[in-house]
Amino acid sequence: MFHVERMQVDDFSFAVQLANTMNWDMTPADFEFMIKLEPDGCFVLFHGQERSGIATSISFGKAGWFGNLVVKEKFRRGGAGKLLTKHAMDYLKNKGVETIGLYAYPHLVTFYENLGFEPDIAFAVLKGKATVSPTHGMLKEATKRDVPEIIAFDRQYFGANRQKLLETILFNQDNLCYVATINSKITGYVAAKVYGKTAEVGPLISNANWKEGAVMLIETILSRLNGFEIFMCIPTKEAELLKMLSKAGFKEDFRVVRMFSGSALAQNCICGPESLERG
Ligand SMILES: CC(C)(COP(=O)(O)OP(=O)(O)OC[C@H]1O[C@@H](n2cnc3c(N)ncnc32)[C@H](O)[C@@H]1OP(=O)(O)O)[C@@H](O)C(=O)NCCC(=O)NCCS
Repeated sequence: MFHVERMQVDDFSFAVQLANTMNWDMTPADFEFMIKLEPDGCFVLFHGQERSGIATSISFGKAGWFGNLVVKEKFRRGGAGKLLTKHAMDYLKNKGVETIGLYAYPHLVTFYENLGFEPDIAFAVLKGKATVSPTHGMLKEATKRDVPEIIAFDRQYFGANRQKLLETILFNQDNLCYVATINSKITGYVAAKVYGKTAEVGPLISNANWKEGAVMLIETILSRLNGFEIFMCIPTKEAELLKMLSKAGFKEDFRVVRMFSGSALAQNCICGPESLERG
């Protein structure tokens, strides 16, 4: 009845339409980007000839990320979601991935637990228009020359080599990236993907013991995005960061739970996702 195929360009309009039934605000460019990064890791579920669901995955060596899971409403509760998730998990495992991460809506934690994932920490998804001026001065804007060190730093703290993703983001001139350094060594960085007057802040990776570092990074990047419509996702345990963002006018939209199948990643740092679908 159901079968899974690799997502192709002519599936994009279906994928966008289905994803946006969830108010995810996606465009064909989002799926194009996913396929560019992981050509064989994006999937469409068919019921006979009818497209009935989507899911995406990305591999970073021994780690991978799963996301964008949606099944058309009329096909739900018939094993389709489970099939798509298992298909993507098998794909990643065949690529040598040992840890798979995802962000789950809280009501779906059990759904993923039944597929072998364990809950880690919760995140608040925030929306707002920035009006921030840095209280501790500006940090350094990253240059192309900093990219290899940022990737190495990210690998150390995130726990996987996200080079293919980070290079694409950091070499795009529309995007922003700032680094915090001590004695010229990177202790944290934050990036933002900018689309017109909208921006998605992340990844954020900062030394867990230097909370002000994460605040400074976020303040610095937001001060460059005044007036932009901004999305970001922050661990709910980072009270200081959330307080600053609430003061700046950000509101919590919803929460997600980070879950892992395999050993957990990003345990010794303050980590804000690049996106919910890529980790
Ligand atoms: C989540 C979703 C993909 C599940 O798809 P589905 O085809 O209904 O799932 P399945 O039929 O494979 O369900 C597998 C199991 O999970 C359970 N389950 C499914 N949806 C559930 C839900 N919303 N809440 C709790 N349990 C759920 C099923 O009862 C089933 O249990 P069983 O194996 O004991 O029978 C689907 O509900 C959906 O598209 N939701 C909207 C998009 C979304 O929320 N995506 C996830 C983002 S994290």
